[in-house]
Amino acid sequence: MAENQQSPTEKYTAYSYRKKMAYGVSPLYFFFTLFLLSSSLLAAGRFPAPIHLENLTSISFDEGYTQLFGGGNLMLLRQGKAVRISLDERTGAGFASNDLFLHGFFSASIKLPSDYAAGVVVAFYMSNVDVFEKNHDEVDFEFLGNIRGRDWRVQTNVYGNGSTGFGREERYGLWFDPTEDFHNYSILWSRNRIIFYIDRKPIREVVRTESMGGDFPSKPMSLYATIWDGSGWATAGGRYKVNYKYAPYAAEFAGLVLHGCAVDPIDRLSLCLQHESEVYEFVTITPEQRLAMRGLRKRHMSYSYCYDGKRYRTPPPECPAYVHESEEFEGAGSRSGYRRHHGKHRRHQASDE
Ligand SMILES: *[C@@H]1O[C@H](CO)[C@@H](O)[C@H](O)[C@H]1NC(C)=O
Ligand SMILES: *[C@@H]1O[C@H](CO)[C@@H](O)[C@H](O)[C@H]1NC(C)=O
Ligand SMILES: *[C@@H]1O[C@H](CO)[C@@H](O)[C@H](O)[C@H]1NC(C)=O
Repeated sequence: MAENQQSPTEKYTAYSYRKKMAYGVSPLYFFFTLFLLSSSLLAAGRFPAPIHLENLTSISFDEGYTQLFGGGNLMLLRQGKAVRISLDERTGAGFASNDLFLHGFFSASIKLPSDYAAGVVVAFYMSNVDVFEKNHDEVDFEFLGNIRGRDWRVQTNVYGNGSTGFGREERYGLWFDPTEDFHNYSILWSRNRIIFYIDRKPIREVVRTESMGGDFPSKPMSLYATIWDGSGWATAGGRYKVNYKYAPYAAEFAGLVLHGCAVDPIDRLSLCLQHESEVYEFVTITPEQRLAMRGLRKRHMSYSYCYDGKRYRTPPPECPAYVHESEEFEGAGSRSGYRRHHGKHRRHQASDE
């Protein structure tokens, strides 16, 4: 299989060993951490200061990320504050965070390739498949290119502890042209909640429920960004392939925010303090945001696994909380009025429109 046809989760095996080797924490460090923990708990009076997501500072590429693959198809721009990854007939490209994180807020400002982009997939996601091969966790933003005149679509998904047989895809159209300008795509991940944001607006909330069991991501993950050839499934179930006549396809990433608890992948020692990791649990969706989210989902969501009766005979147990939305859908999860195709989907089984 050509490199550019692999899924993002198949990409970084070589990198993983390099990264594993890079971690080695001395006992001294451990005591130092304990010392810091106790002193700062005293200082902070145990209560974490609230974080303001909108004011978290972005970093330059080198401060948090390393190239994974793609050679010259990854290019730094604006003194390393931005990065361009591109896909041509030779290869795609990708990068990953130097650290793994247990919980946090992760964001990128992304501009997608314009014009004909069928079959092209741009992904911004968290995963730990290189550390936990059999029972990995994953939180995805996936951008699916389209033929000329049709819009890019965004897909979100969550896997926990190797639950790859159980997809929780949602798909949305965007209310702007994502190829014209940069827009922010962000993930808030705490112990019990995942929130997907687009331009600071929540578009999806996944609340950990008892019934999800291990399916809620719970182990440290790295951040990844990739561009690759998804001809087999990305556009109309594989009907429209990447056309290299229009290559290179370039996606730009800026506004890189990695605000989380860095964790050692081997001994699971957190490099951050307990109360620092708890700040994310205080991030919730305000009633105003929830109302707006409901509107956005109503207008722009084109697929949800929750309403895909063909795929899941009974709605997955975490779904009924969103029952008010189901009136919008009929049959197999796609909104009425959207055209559906039954494509072969390697990793993500969602129907396409
Ligand atoms: C965020 O930063 C802006 C500009 O520096 C400032 O005006 C605003 O008060 C900050 N918001 C919060 C919640 O700290
Ligand atoms: C995750 O998977 C591992 C290995 O399959 C299993 O031993 C463990 O109990 C699972 N954890 C949860 C929380 O389900
Ligand atoms: C997007 O993120 C950047 C960098 O974090 C920030 O400066 C900008 O205001 C954000 N834009 C929107 C629309 O949220």
